[in-house]
Amino acid sequence: MIKRIIVILSAVALLFSCTEKKQDQGLISIIPQPTFLQQEEGVFTLDRKTPIYVDVADSATLRTLAFLNDRLEKAAGFKLEIIDDDPLRHGQEKAVFVLDAGLDKEAYNLAIKSNRLLIEYGDGAGIFYAVQTLLQLLPEDIFAPERRRGVKWEVPCCFIQDNPRFPYRGMHLDCCLHFFSIDFLKKYIDVMAMHKVNRFHWHLTEDQGWRLEIKKYPLLTEKGQWRKETVIGSLSSGYYDGTPYGGYYTQDEVRDLVKYAAERYVTIIPEIELPGHALAAIACYPELSCGLEDHYETATRWGIFRQVYCPKEETFKFLEDVFDEVFELFPTELVHIGGDECPKSSWKKCPHCQALIKKLGLKDEFELQSWFIQRMEKYINSKGHQIIGWDEILQGGLAPNAKVMSWLGEEGGIKAAQQHHEVVMAPYPKYYLDYWQADPESEPLAMGGPTTLRTMYEYNPVPEVLTPEERKYIIGVEGCVWTEYMPTPARVEYMAWPRMCAIADAGWTRQPKDWDAFTRRLEKHLGRLDLLDVGYCKAFYDPFIELHKDTEYSKIATISVDAPDAEIHYTLDGSTPTEASPVYTGPFVINRQQKVTAVAMRDGKALGKVKYKIF
Ligand code: ACM
Ligand code: ZN
Repeated sequence: MIKRIIVILSAVALLFSCTEKKQDQGLISIIPQPTFLQQEEGVFTLDRKTPIYVDVADSATLRTLAFLNDRLEKAAGFKLEIIDDDPLRHGQEKAVFVLDAGLDKEAYNLAIKSNRLLIEYGDGAGIFYAVQTLLQLLPEDIFAPERRRGVKWEVPCCFIQDNPRFPYRGMHLDCCLHFFSIDFLKKYIDVMAMHKVNRFHWHLTEDQGWRLEIKKYPLLTEKGQWRKETVIGSLSSGYYDGTPYGGYYTQDEVRDLVKYAAERYVTIIPEIELPGHALAAIACYPELSCGLEDHYETATRWGIFRQVYCPKEETFKFLEDVFDEVFELFPTELVHIGGDECPKSSWKKCPHCQALIKKLGLKDEFELQSWFIQRMEKYINSKGHQIIGWDEILQGGLAPNAKVMSWLGEEGGIKAAQQHHEVVMAPYPKYYLDYWQADPESEPLAMGGPTTLRTMYEYNPVPEVLTPEERKYIIGVEGCVWTEYMPTPARVEYMAWPRMCAIADAGWTRQPKDWDAFTRRLEKHLGRLDLLDVGYCKAFYDPFIELHKDTEYSKIATISVDAPDAEIHYTLDGSTPTEASPVYTGPFVINRQQKVTAVAMRDGKALGKVKYKIF
C-alpha cells in the first residue's frame, strides 16, 4: 500500500507544488501536514441536515464520530445524524460517508466534493485521524468552547491521502520532578491526539519522587511520593523552599487514563527507571541499594545521584513485582526501563557488586549495567513485553531485543540502528522541550539552549550517515518534557507548544521540510490552540535579537522572527521602533553605546513584543 501511495505521490508531485501555493494563501492549514493534499474548487457545508453514513457502525467508529459531534454541538449548535443507509439514494443533497477501504493502519483518505465528504480508512486510528484533519479543515471556531453563531461550517473541497511516516510519534512528560493532575494529563493527551501524536511516554519514577501506586510495595507512594522540600532556582543554588512536595497516581486513575488515551489512539508507555534515578524507591526500601550509606532520602534537588539499585536477588524480585503490576495497568507491548545516567561509584565500592562482576566474568561496571538490563529484559520479554531505554543502555552491550530512545544527541540512535535495533529519536537539545525557545535573557529559567522553533522544525530525525537499510530502524520521534523548571501545567504548555507542532510534523509527514510554509500553517493553527486554551509560547511574533562576538568595541547583531510576512523594524538609540524605523535586512555592527530595540510588524501593525538587547 505504501508503495502504491508513493507511486501516486510522484505522479502528482507537480500538482502538489501548486497546492502548496494555495496553502500559502492561508486556505488550508493542517498540522501535521498530510502526505498528499490537493485543493479543489468549492466547499462542502456541514449543517444540521447533513447525515453521516457509516458502513461499519462499530463502537470505535461511533466513538470517534461522537468526538466530531461533540465539537459540532458545542461550537455550531447541531450534531450530524449517523445512519446506515445510503443517504444520496434517499434524496439527500449531500452527506458524509465513512467507508472501510482496507487501507494501512492509521491511514485515511478524505475526498471532499461539494455534495459528498468521503472518509476512507483501514482501522479506527484512520477514522480518528481523518476526523482530526476534518476539524482543521473547518473554520477555527470549531475549537471554540461555546456556541459560535453566524459561522458557515464550510470545508474546502480537496483530496487528501494520508498516512504517517513513522509508527512511533511520541511526547514525553516527566511527572516526578513535578507532579501533574490526571485532568491536566487528559488535556495533554487531547492536544497530542489532535496532532496525531500517538505515544505518551509517562515518566513515573525518579530520585525526586515515585508516582505510581504499587499495591505490593505501599511505601513507594506512602513515603516515596514525598520529598521534604525542593530546590529553588537552578539545581545548585543551595536554596530550598522548606515545603514538602508529593503526589502520585492511584491504579484506578492510571486505568482511567490508559482508557482515555486509547480512545484517542494514544498508547501510554510507562517509564520505570532502573538501575539509576532510583533514590525515591531506595529511600523507602534501603535494602534495594548497595547499603553503603546510613540514610537514604528522596532527592530535594535536580541532577544525578550515586544511590542506585544494587543488582541483587532482592532488587530483581522487587523490580519484577513492580513490572507485574505495571503490565496489569498498561496493556502496551512496550515499556520504558530508563537506563540513563546511572553512576557507577556505589557499584565500585560494593562487595556484592564486585563479587558479581568476578563471578559473571564481566569486564567492568558498564558490563554489570548491561547484565542488569539484560536480566530485566529477559523477565519483561517472558511476560510478552518489550523494552525501550535511553541510549546509555548501549554501554556494555545492548540487550538482545531492546529498542533505544536516543537522547544524548544522535550517537546512540546511530549506533543502535547500525546494530539493527529499533530507535526513537529524542535527541537533546533538538527535541528537548525543556530548553529555552526564545531569548533566555527575557525568559524564565529553563534547562539550556535556546532550541528555537525553527531549530526543532529543521532537525531531520533520520541521520544522514545511516544506510537506507539502517534508516528503517528509526521508528519514530519524541519530544521530551523534563519538568525541573516547569512546576505548573501552564509552564508545561508554554514550553511544549508550539514547538511540539514541529516534532509532530516531523513524525507524520513525508513532505520535504519547508519552514516558510510551516510558519504559515502554524500561524493559523495557533488560533486553534488559543480556543483550546493551550497556553503556548507566543515568541512566534517576537523578534529574536542576538549579539555575536566581534571586537572589544563592536558586536554583530542578527534579528529573526518566526512569523511569516513580517518586517522587523529596529532602532539603535533606545527608542521604540515604529513603521518609520529602519527595516532589518541582515546582520549589522553595533558599538558599545548602542542598544538594539526591535519589533516585528505586518501592514504597519506590531505583531508581538518590543524586544531589546544592550551591548
Ligand atoms: C535524560 O534526559 N536523562 C534521558
Ligand atoms: Zn551493590
